Amino acid sequence: MAGKKKPLVVITRKLPDPVETRMRELFDARLNIDDKPMSRDELAAAMQEADVLVPTITDRIDDSLIAGAGQNLKLIANFGNGVDHIDIVAAGKKGIAVTNTPNVLTEDTADMTMGLILTVPRRLIEGAAMLVANGKWAGWSPTWMLGRRIGGKRLGIVGMGRIGTAVARRAKAFGLSIHYHNRKRVMPAVEDELEATYWESLDQMLARMDIISVNCPSTPATFHLLSGRRLALLQPSAYIVNTARGDIIDEDALIKLIQDGKIAGAGLDVFEHEPAINPKLLKLAAKGKVVLLPHMGSATIESRIDMGEKVIINIRAHQDGHRPPDRVLPTRV
Ligand code: 8YV
Repeated sequence: MAGKKKPLVVITRKLPDPVETRMRELFDARLNIDDKPMSRDELAAAMQEADVLVPTITDRIDDSLIAGAGQNLKLIANFGNGVDHIDIVAAGKKGIAVTNTPNVLTEDTADMTMGLILTVPRRLIEGAAMLVANGKWAGWSPTWMLGRRIGGKRLGIVGMGRIGTAVARRAKAFGLSIHYHNRKRVMPAVEDELEATYWESLDQMLARMDIISVNCPSTPATFHLLSGRRLALLQPSAYIVNTARGDIIDEDALIKLIQDGKIAGAGLDVFEHEPAINPKLLKLAAKGKVVLLPHMGSATIESRIDMGEKVIINIRAHQDGHRPPDRVLPTRV
């Protein structure tokens, strides 16, 4: 008996070798070995033909691309957790399921967040860069390269989901007191473990924190959640760290407040107009006011292989007629 025809799976970017090898075994996998981002026309052509599309954050899958998709496209299995680059509602209307890759990148993203929480107030990048730039070191001085203490400070987490909670666990171990704002209060057992204080009012929390960490997803409801008005509530000594999505913060307003000395600094792994970086941010980085990273939150080989594994499981479940484990529903966006 002839075997079932393998689904045509178009993968828009290069994935780790073990993931690509397994995808080749299981699917009629169209890989992007050169890792050249696909143009809109290339994406449209792929969506015409494919049974499954595996995009990443660098692909904007909007309603018009979805409207033009071919009859065979029944699943968009995103390689990544955030799905803000995919029009989930349009996909749902066209009968296309969307899946993501939660859980497997939580700890690595929380590590990166904690890294920024330590790096910005303790001026790690500035110190390291100074040695390299000067080529020599004049020696230690009691008043040189002074930063701000981490322990004993208040950390306000905006979005206490999986990553926010993982950040809180790390931060507590560094002696920070944990505060959070979330749509819903977390389970009492989690609050107790973290000795966390819930702030129903984001405004109230912002005004009282030493460090803010942004850990909520980007949705229409969180666009510019940290607006100019809200950012102005922060204390001049406060720092802000964002490893979630750039558009949750009004980036222009943040830049202005840092330039004016109304916020002490920021650690940003994500940007409002990614991959474009506002030149004013680069100037602030050169002055040591901000630390900028190129969206590296989940950039470990372990995370990226596990994300690929999740993509494969989602495709397999869907192909076998089951509900894929990581289906993203429009109601959750
Ligand atoms: C990924 C991320 O690298 O998964 C996410 O939501 O932000 C990143 O860690 C990226 O999304 C891959 O598509």
